[in-house]
Amino acid sequence: MNAPDRIDSLLEPHAIGMPLERIEGQAKVTGTAPYAFEHPVGTPLYLRALQATIARGRVSAVDVSAAQALAGVVAVITHENAPRLASDDDKELWVLQSDEVHFRGQFVGAVVAETPEVARQAADLVRVQYAEQPHDVTLRADRDDLYTPEKVNGGSPADTAEGDVDEALRRASITLDQTYTTPMEHNNPMEPHTTVALWEDGTLTLYDSTQGVHAVRTKLATVFGLAPERIRVSATHVGGGFGSKGVPHAHVVLAALAAQAAPGRPVKFALTRQQMFCLVGYRTPTIQRLRLGADEQGRLTAIVHDVIVQTSRIKQFTEQAAVPSRVMYAARNRRTTHRLAALDVPVPSWMRAPGEAPGMFAGEVAMDEMAIACGLDPIEFRIRNDPEKDPETGHPWSGRNLIGCLREGARRFGWDRRDPTPGIRRHNGWLSGTGVASATYPCFSQAGSAASIQYGPGEHYAVRIGAVDIGTGSWTALTQIAADALDCPVAAIRLEIGDTRLPFATVEGGSMGITCWGSAIVAAARAFREEHGAQPAEGAQTTAAMQENPDSKRFSLHSFGAHFAEVHVHADTGEIRVPRMLGVFSAGRIINPRTARSQFIGGMTMGVSMALLEVSIMDPRFGHVVNHDFAEYHIASNADIADLDAIWLDEHDAHANPMGSRGIGEIGIVGAAAAIVNAAWHATGIRVRELPLTPDKFLS
Ligand code: MOS
Repeated sequence: MNAPDRIDSLLEPHAIGMPLERIEGQAKVTGTAPYAFEHPVGTPLYLRALQATIARGRVSAVDVSAAQALAGVVAVITHENAPRLASDDDKELWVLQSDEVHFRGQFVGAVVAETPEVARQAADLVRVQYAEQPHDVTLRADRDDLYTPEKVNGGSPADTAEGDVDEALRRASITLDQTYTTPMEHNNPMEPHTTVALWEDGTLTLYDSTQGVHAVRTKLATVFGLAPERIRVSATHVGGGFGSKGVPHAHVVLAALAAQAAPGRPVKFALTRQQMFCLVGYRTPTIQRLRLGADEQGRLTAIVHDVIVQTSRIKQFTEQAAVPSRVMYAARNRRTTHRLAALDVPVPSWMRAPGEAPGMFAGEVAMDEMAIACGLDPIEFRIRNDPEKDPETGHPWSGRNLIGCLREGARRFGWDRRDPTPGIRRHNGWLSGTGVASATYPCFSQAGSAASIQYGPGEHYAVRIGAVDIGTGSWTALTQIAADALDCPVAAIRLEIGDTRLPFATVEGGSMGITCWGSAIVAAARAFREEHGAQPAEGAQTTAAMQENPDSKRFSLHSFGAHFAEVHVHADTGEIRVPRMLGVFSAGRIINPRTARSQFIGGMTMGVSMALLEVSIMDPRFGHVVNHDFAEYHIASNADIADLDAIWLDEHDAHANPMGSRGIGEIGIVGAAAAIVNAAWHATGIRVRELPLTPDKFLS
């Protein structure tokens, strides 16, 4: 099929733009919406995992006799007796296939038993001995084994260069050279990672807490050497993921392996909160050096962003923290680099806005410092360096309105009353200040999603797509898109998602769910109307895939935003609070203002969390995260969030997708921590370049 010459927009929507309540909301608050672990299955067994207590080495001996002897134990599985897997392409999923230990907390076995209590007791009875080797879990900028990966997360090159940055920095009137760091952080969705696995007649059924049912099926088909049709994955409701459920991790394979020991019986496996700190990915620590050069008018002449991050020895993941610096500001001379250290640590992965979240923290604090060095207001400095076209590709923006976000935010936040002098506003022992930072996130799309539409039985349309709602509002937004695409009332749509029995859909990740799935639904609706007309016969059905967007190669598709934060720092204790925060976003058309606002303020809340609280503390002696629970890994909660609001510019992106929307799942976190750090400088005169903003950093 030929790609259309330009994207065909839904120009006259009715349901799109309505602030509909979540269609699954009542089921969730009344407790009838089944999450993976609660999925009703007959007489389940329970899995308890055994985990390595060393960070590197081999399992030298295992004694399972006491565990096996316990009444109610069905199977004890280790590398010695585990069924063989078919593919070791992904070493993270090569579970119990050898005696090697690559990081502390790695699975070394599992107990399957009639009750969770027996499984746990039996697991405690298994004796594992190790031949330990020295491990190395510490990321430092002066390591001599840093290397350049071929690609970074998202598929772009590790390094880019344009012009002569060294010469530009030498000739610049004003320069900045600073290093910023972010710590290891862990995704903590409310619902832990959970899999219920059942083998029947050589087919595998998984009720899995995942961001992509088809992604799990595809991956497990490879790992187990099965035809994809022999695997079914279901995820009707998911309690958050933030990226950690975007790819299947080892626990899914472990559950499926263990369930082979008891064909016909479902095996339930829910990770504990503590286990989530070594088995489901995390955000790598980052060390980021920023060098900027500007002329006397405050126009950037050079941007250099050098990033050092870590990965695991068994699987490479490169957090693309320098990538946002490729699109943010105009400077003729630019260079971005990524270097990796492979350590004896768990596999890092996606955490809400991987790359952009830590990268824009560094970039936007550097921009604040540079504005001050240039003697310019930080908003004016950003406006002066706003690029007309994408600096990397030269393509026009599909809808960059960063300046609009900055101006609208400045107006609402009262920026014109701001005295730029730091450290002079003191009231009752609290110093106060305000700060700003930009946000950006790409509008990705990935080919392949398809949807089917069937009319009846009854006067409604069944709209089927193997998408997943991880708590974002996809159930509701997709229903609205389907109603407009079919030109029928919302009440006539019966959406079905969350199952591999439904047409293929890409993962809920990269803020691209609505773009991919909405485009597929629009394509299916158009094909349906062409085939069956406005008055279809009962049972009429059509399936169609999303079409390639020709504009994605001609335009640079990104969302933008601006964060404004007010920060109070106690002069004596260093305690820091964020009493007020506003985000203004340029994200194309908003499908549902109610659920969209949730996404924006949810992202911003996670940004406050990143700024003030989140840090995973690695103990280099043992190779594990010490503060691996909610008692000690702090995330922002109600008392940390005060007057926090998000608004958006009224937009329709004619180039992004047929709905006119761009993604909104991740941009809320991007830049939020920088705005808070910049406000903390304005409050105190102390420039913090290392997250999180703990009180000690203000007591120098
Ligand atoms: Mo998001 S971190 O792409 O699930």
